[in-house]
Amino acid sequence: MRNLSLALFLTALAAPAFAGPADDYRTFCADCHGPNRLGAQGPALLPEFLARIPVDKVIAAGRPATQMAGFSDRLTPDRITTLAQWIKTEPLETPSWGMSEITASHNVLADQNTLPANPPFSSDPLNLFLVVEAGDHHVTILDGDRMVPLYRLASHFALHGGAKYSPDGRFVYLASRDGWVSKIDMWTGTLLAEVRVAVNTRNIAVSDDGRFVLAGNGLPGGLVILDAFGLAPVRIIPTPGRVSAVYAAPPRHSFVVALKDSPELWEIPASTLTPRKITLEDRLDDFYFDPAYQRVLGSARDGTVGHVIDLDSGHKIAELPFSGMPHLGSGITFVWHGRPVMATPHLKDGVVSVVAMDDWSEIKRIPTCGAGFFLRGHEMVKTAWVDCSASADHKDTLQLIDLETLEVTASLRPSPGHTAGHVEFTRDGKRALVSVMEDDGALVVYDTTTLAEVARLPMRKPIGKYNVYNKITLSPGTSH
Ligand code: HEC
Repeated sequence: MRNLSLALFLTALAAPAFAGPADDYRTFCADCHGPNRLGAQGPALLPEFLARIPVDKVIAAGRPATQMAGFSDRLTPDRITTLAQWIKTEPLETPSWGMSEITASHNVLADQNTLPANPPFSSDPLNLFLVVEAGDHHVTILDGDRMVPLYRLASHFALHGGAKYSPDGRFVYLASRDGWVSKIDMWTGTLLAEVRVAVNTRNIAVSDDGRFVLAGNGLPGGLVILDAFGLAPVRIIPTPGRVSAVYAAPPRHSFVVALKDSPELWEIPASTLTPRKITLEDRLDDFYFDPAYQRVLGSARDGTVGHVIDLDSGHKIAELPFSGMPHLGSGITFVWHGRPVMATPHLKDGVVSVVAMDDWSEIKRIPTCGAGFFLRGHEMVKTAWVDCSASADHKDTLQLIDLETLEVTASLRPSPGHTAGHVEFTRDGKRALVSVMEDDGALVVYDTTTLAEVARLPMRKPIGKYNVYNKITLSPGTSH
């Protein structure tokens, strides 16, 4: 008995006692990931972010070429596994992120009154693109006339796609997974201001008058309204649970908000910032507007039915049959044989659905090479471009759908074996930019008439790119 205690005593002297994962976290991780796991120079570490990440491996081996070093030299495999499980568990206290935390995080980095009145380049400032490079957390501002990168800036960790522009196209607003909202001057590549609105943000929208940015948050659930000029917080609007998505409805001078945990759709006029609440049958995961912004097409959570809701009456006016999780946020609209139609890819099925927007009947299901994320069109281009990047076998292939016959007429493989997706057109529609979404990736630029490759720009996992003109004019071929 004595010998055993002595042995334990000696072991305890040889190595610091292992008091548990919370202790290891405090010792080895808290400096970078924050004492409450809410993030600091490293990202927030909460279960909702880590579900698809091999956490053990990241802790053991680190992430090459980042501040995240491996810990296999300091922690045994057992301690790493215990620590990984611990950070994949909800914290005991729900993280609080209210007005005082938001205000404390607000940072104005440049004086906007001293920005130049004219662009310091001769290319069309409305044909610029913002490219989100997820590989090393940067954004590139690209000159779309000459296809030359103008500026490259570090961004917050895990930016969402869906950059939003000011109505004049001069400024871009970005949101990160961890709730940071940033404002950048597209002409000079200057980071102007930033603020952390939440621990986890779903997406943001800019009001049509350019005065407000609305952030829809998952943790804590709620809406935060920012003053678009300097990103100062204006108001927090609590929601029952998490927000699914927020979009601006410019012709209605309002924002529309879907909630993830409550069957409600909210409309918030920019003039009053007071929500009007519409009760639904189902919770919506994402939604899309008809071209007049009179109706919302929402996908319910199980992904099999789409709901069409009239925003004025607040009533559901139709149900759309969908099979494989339509990705409504990336649908497009166009006129087909004199009728307004919308088309959307499916996240779980190799099909593009085309639905008439006058009587909501299904016009066609176009088979593609696999499930895809993005469908894109342009007023001047006779084809719509869809990826198969959610499929097992054809991640590297894009297909072009003729908007007259609704048939696939061409396939492109920008980089065989490597995921290709997210197409965006230049202002005039003459060029299509396609992402090769690898860390060692590229933007591949095609001539939309000849389909010849005209440029290939190296980028670090370019997940999305956004043309200023197509966004601010609400092109029916792209999401807004
Ligand atoms: C010196 C700062 C630093 C320390 C110390 C540190 N990390 Fe990190 N960690 C980072 C950074 C920066 C990243 C983002 C890397 C990237 O760009 O992918 C990261 C990423 C991660 C990720 C991946 C998160 C995601 O969403 O992709 C996990 C998991 C993680 N760290 C866990 C830990 C744990 C557990 C510890 C302690 C044992 C720790 N880290 C210590 C800086 C640090």
